Order: sequence, then structure tokens, then C-alpha cells
Amino acid sequence: MSKALEGVRILDMTHVQSGPTCTQLLAWFGADVIKVERPGVGDATRGQLRDIPDVDSLYFTMLNHNKRSVTLNPKTEKGMKIFAKLIEECDVMVENFAPGAIDRMGFPWEKIQEINPRMIYASVKGFGPGPFEDCKVYENVAQCTGGSASTTGEINGFPMVTGSQIGDSGTGLHLALGIVTALYHREKSGKGQRVSCAMQDGVLNLCRVKLRDQQRLAHGPMKEYPQYPNGEFGAAVPRAGNASGGGQPGWIVKCKGWETDPDSYAYVIAQAAAFPALAKAIGHEDWLEDPEWNTPEARLPKIDKLFEEVEKWTLTKTKFEVMNILNPQNVPVGPILSMKELAEEPSLRATGTVVEVDHPERGKYLTVGNPIKLSDSPSDVERSPLLGEHTDDILRDVVGMSDEEIAAAKAEGAV
Ligand SMILES: CC(C)(COP(=O)(O)OP(=O)(O)OC[C@H]1O[C@@H](n2cnc3c(N)ncnc32)[C@H](O)[C@@H]1OP(=O)(O)O)[C@@H](O)C(=O)NCCC(=O)NCCS
Repeated sequence: MSKALEGVRILDMTHVQSGPTCTQLLAWFGADVIKVERPGVGDATRGQLRDIPDVDSLYFTMLNHNKRSVTLNPKTEKGMKIFAKLIEECDVMVENFAPGAIDRMGFPWEKIQEINPRMIYASVKGFGPGPFEDCKVYENVAQCTGGSASTTGEINGFPMVTGSQIGDSGTGLHLALGIVTALYHREKSGKGQRVSCAMQDGVLNLCRVKLRDQQRLAHGPMKEYPQYPNGEFGAAVPRAGNASGGGQPGWIVKCKGWETDPDSYAYVIAQAAAFPALAKAIGHEDWLEDPEWNTPEARLPKIDKLFEEVEKWTLTKTKFEVMNILNPQNVPVGPILSMKELAEEPSLRATGTVVEVDHPERGKYLTVGNPIKLSDSPSDVERSPLLGEHTDDILRDVVGMSDEEIAAAKAEGAV
């Protein structure tokens, strides 16, 4: 079985999280990803949040698997020529520097196209064209400006960011789709093109249902929000705590042991079809005959009371017992799993979603493997490269330099 993107060569000018997430996905699928890093410095994340002195951080290693690293400074005379040759030899160039950085290196899109008309040039920026297009952006800025923070948090509480890196990794995912789409299009057109993803746009795309609700607001209160019927709706979509956001009422309830275990909770969904089973399981068979409870419309104004009753029952069970009892009865439910539990979960290890990787300097560590599974194209996880580990190989095999030329480039600080 061959890897799906074998034969695709990527010039990876990415750093931090959003860009590296994208190129890591492409590398997992078999693309040859050549990560270009500043000589002697490298991607800043190599040194950020270090847990072991002088060893590449988990931040870096977990975002840069299956790549090769070359050190190169395109701002030197020789470095510029090597960089131009790499553009010629690669299919895709990916970057997520601050706006204008690649232009300032001397490689605007027009020049890249001139060097290689088949090149697909993919960028992540914080914002698209508009008032903020020149801004530098990190994860939480994207969550705040893309609609996630204003719609996340406790009812009447302050805006909250989420633990999921929807601004960085979410935009990296969007960009990867843009790249494979452009590669597919190139099969027909023979030409490359630009692929741009703004983090604000990526977050807003993931918050699509909240823009739906913004428009529903004009037509009266949204009955699935906890603000209904007693709270206030303002001019914009409010924060809704842990309400499900779809048409099905749901909430997080405490389970046995919550007093000492901060993750002893479960999410329970009380959708109409599963309501009889849920009511019976929690000892409220009486609700099935009671017009105050036996229709979704009757329950809607007292959803909080419903979940109080559910919680009285879940408090007598562990979160896994809640799952094991309700799930077979088609009541949608999910235990709140901690990172420790996820790291230790055997089924995630079996599918390669959680993988143990060996690194020459840090030893064994856990990472998240490729979450996208293809039936005919394997995707294994290889450790991240050391800074400049493949410089000589790449300069020789891809750029076509002799040993003497490589030595001269090193002496000049170009690589
Ligand atoms: C993430 C971000 C805020 C970081 O900002 P930063 O650390 O100040 O880094 P910058 O992107 O400004 O680039 C750093 C400089 O390094 C230079 N550089 C990068 N690689 C280099 C190399 N191999 N050799 C020499 N110089 C290099 C760039 O040319 C740039 O120089 P310039 O500003 O003089 O033109 C910024 O890159 C950004 O907004 N990116 C777009 C949005 C994004 O992806 N954000 C999420 C990150 S997870």
C-alpha cells in the first residue's frame, strides 16, 4: 500500500502551531515535508514550554512529526538562491509568518509563480483583507475575533476561550484541505494557485451554528437556550453554558465522586426519542403519563429541573456506569474524560490515535496520531527532526549542491 501523498514535496516555511499542524497532516499522508528553519535558531516552539532542559519541547515534537529539517536563511545572497531552487523543486509552499514576511524575504507571489508556475502557495494569516489584515495573531485572539469566545462561557459570565485549538489547529486543517483541493485542480489545469486561510474565518466557520442563531434571534427567543423562558436575550447570541446548541436539550451533570475528582461528570442529552428510556432509568416513569413532562414542549421551560432530577440519579453512579447504563438504551451520553484517561485509553492506542514515539534526545513520549484514517493508505507517526538534521541531504539531493558548495554555504551562514 502506498501513502496517499507520496511524491508531493512541500516547502514548509511554517512555525508555531497553525502552519505546522497543516504540514504535519500532509506529512502523515506521505508528502515529503521539508521544514525550513533559521540557522542556529529554528522554530521558536523548539524552546517553548520545555519540560526537559536543552531538548526539543513537546510543543514542537507533537506538531512536526514525519518532517525533514533544513536550516536556511533566505535573506543571505546564497540562501536566496538555494531558496529559489527549493521553490522550483517543490509542489507546495506553506507559510504562516506575519503578513508581508515572505515578500520582505524577496519572494512575493508573482516571483514564486515565475520560478514555478505549478507551485501551490498556501498561507495562514490572522485576518483576511480588511481593517485587521496587518495584525499578528495567536490562538486566543482568533477565538475572540471569530465568534467563539463571545458565545462560550457561563450564562451571565464573561467570555471564555476553549481548550481546543480551533484558531491554530482548526485553521491548519482548513489549509490542508485547501492544499489538496488545489493539488487536485492542478491535475487538470497544470497550474498552481494561492490558498489563503484567515484564522478569524476558520473560527467563524466552526461557529457557524452561532451565526445561525444570531438570525433566529430576530424571530423571538431561542427556546433551547437556558435563557428561555425566564432570562433575558439581548441583541447578540448569548453564552449558553453547557446547553447543546442543537435541537436536543443537553447538560453536564455531576457523577459519583465529583467531590474529589474534577472530571467526574457526564454529558446527558434528553432528546425526545430517548426520553422514555432516560425517564425510566432515573426512576421517573411517572413522567411518561404526566402531561407536565411527557412532551418536548412541556419539558422545554423546565429543562433545568429535568437535569436536576437526572443528576440526582447520576450522583449515585460513576460516569462510566452512567455511560454503560444509558448508552445501550440509545440515550446519547458522554463521560467527561480527562487527558490522563485519554492518554491511557487502550482503544485509542489500538487505532493509532494516541501513539508512543521514541525521540533520540527526549526518549519516549505520547502524541496524537493522524485522526483521519484512510483504508488503503497507511499513515504512521515518525519523530520530529532535530534542527537542521537533514540539511546536507536536502542540499545535496533536492537542491543539487556539491559537498564543497554546501561547506561554502555553511561558512557564509546561509545554511
Ligand atoms: C505567529 C506570529 C504572531 C509570530 O510572530 P513573530 O514571532 O514576530 O514572527 P514573524 O512571523 O513576524 O516572523 C519573524 C521574522 O523571522 C524571519 N524569518 C523566518 N524564518 C527565517 C529564516 N529561515 N531565516 C531568516 N529569517 C527568517 C521572517 O522573515 C520575519 O522577519 P521580518 O519580520 O523582518 O520580515 C506571526 O507569525 C503571525 O501572525 N502569523 C500569522 C498567523 C498565525 O499563523 N498565527 C498562529 C501562530 S500558531
